[in-house]
Amino acid sequence: MRKISVSIGEEKYPILIENGLLDQLGKEIKKIYQGKKIVIITDQNVNDHYGKKVVNQLTGEGFTTKIVVLPPGESTKSFDNLQNIYNELLEFKLTRSDLIIALGGGVIGDIAGFVAATFLRGVTFVQIPTSLLAQVDSSVGGKVGINLPQGKNLVGAFCQPTAVFIDPSVLDTLTGKFFKGGMAEVIKYGCIKDKAFFNLLKGLSSRQEIMAHIEEIVYDCCMIKKKVVEQDEKDQGERLLLNFGHTLGHAIEKCHHYTGITHGEAVAIGMYHTTLRSEQMGMTKSGTAENIKEILIQYGLPYELNIKDRHKLIGAIGLDKKNTGGVLKEILLTDIGESIIYDTTCHFFEI
Ligand SMILES: NC(=O)c1ccc[n+]([C@@H]2O[C@H](COP(=O)([O-])OP(=O)(O)OC[C@H]3O[C@@H](n4cnc5c(N)ncnc54)[C@H](O)[C@@H]3O)[C@@H](O)[C@H]2O)c1
Ligand SMILES: [Zn+2]
Repeated sequence: MRKISVSIGEEKYPILIENGLLDQLGKEIKKIYQGKKIVIITDQNVNDHYGKKVVNQLTGEGFTTKIVVLPPGESTKSFDNLQNIYNELLEFKLTRSDLIIALGGGVIGDIAGFVAATFLRGVTFVQIPTSLLAQVDSSVGGKVGINLPQGKNLVGAFCQPTAVFIDPSVLDTLTGKFFKGGMAEVIKYGCIKDKAFFNLLKGLSSRQEIMAHIEEIVYDCCMIKKKVVEQDEKDQGERLLLNFGHTLGHAIEKCHHYTGITHGEAVAIGMYHTTLRSEQMGMTKSGTAENIKEILIQYGLPYELNIKDRHKLIGAIGLDKKNTGGVLKEILLTDIGESIIYDTTCHFFEI
């Protein structure tokens, strides 16, 4: 079993990573939680694959459980859904000393985490991320929240879990689209912090090969994210590095009205074009953009920017959260594995 310890402020919690961890879940929960009641929040797809296993593990150790199953997809992270979830918790008579488990991808982690942060002013929670994006990114760092009709992640909190349990073998049932999307974030970690990791990824080709190294890959990503968030819990400095490729990526998603392109695909295009631009400006070692393009092709991710209306794209960048007082804090690579925060404006992207 691989173990990472995350320390943020006064709080300290473990991330455990092992194929087959779900089969020992009851015992692992018992080690960290002495109460009786547990609410599991999940979505329909994850419930179909793993709901029964998780419930059996917990009841096998004597816990009383309730499972709340939400529809899959981004629209689940809504204000309206919160009320329904709070109703279920009240009906189950969940108290502050009981436990909530978030079992699912980033959508479930975010909304279940937000419920845990707010219900009765805070209930302990455990993350069991089941998508690649959630295992390498959203379950670590303590950002939880929901969307509003006006925009994504507009309401939320910083709330650290008691533990994160990662069973990478559950990625076997993830659809190709979400697997690829998660790989874009995995590649991002190599780009910003770790050239050796980037090169390891370059040496793998099929999903089967990736799965043969998946514990190590998830561990390496969680280690990078842990180190970054420990230095900067609240997104003021170092944590911004995690946004590499995301300024352009978010603008691309917006221009597509969040349909027809996944977040990971948009980030892939963003990483390549941001690097192409910084290379043109002489800030990045030459050949870096080409290196990124090659790995994106290898993982079946796009790199071409197919948006004709560049004004709209630049306008969308102008609305980015990282754009404060006209200054855009953009993340650039000086080389693979070396990233910097660069103060610029949205005109940087006038390619
Ligand atoms: N809190 C953070 O720091 C943070 C960071 C990045 C992203 N996010 C958020 O994460 C969300 C995206 O997460 P996501 O890509 O995991 O989406 P998701 O939660 O919608 O999961 C993707 C799909 O995979 C399915 N799924 C999940 N695990 C599965 C498994 N093991 N087998 C089969 N199907 C499975 C889900 O049902 C869903 O259909 C966004 O809302 C984003 O804002 C949060
Ligand atoms: Zn992302």
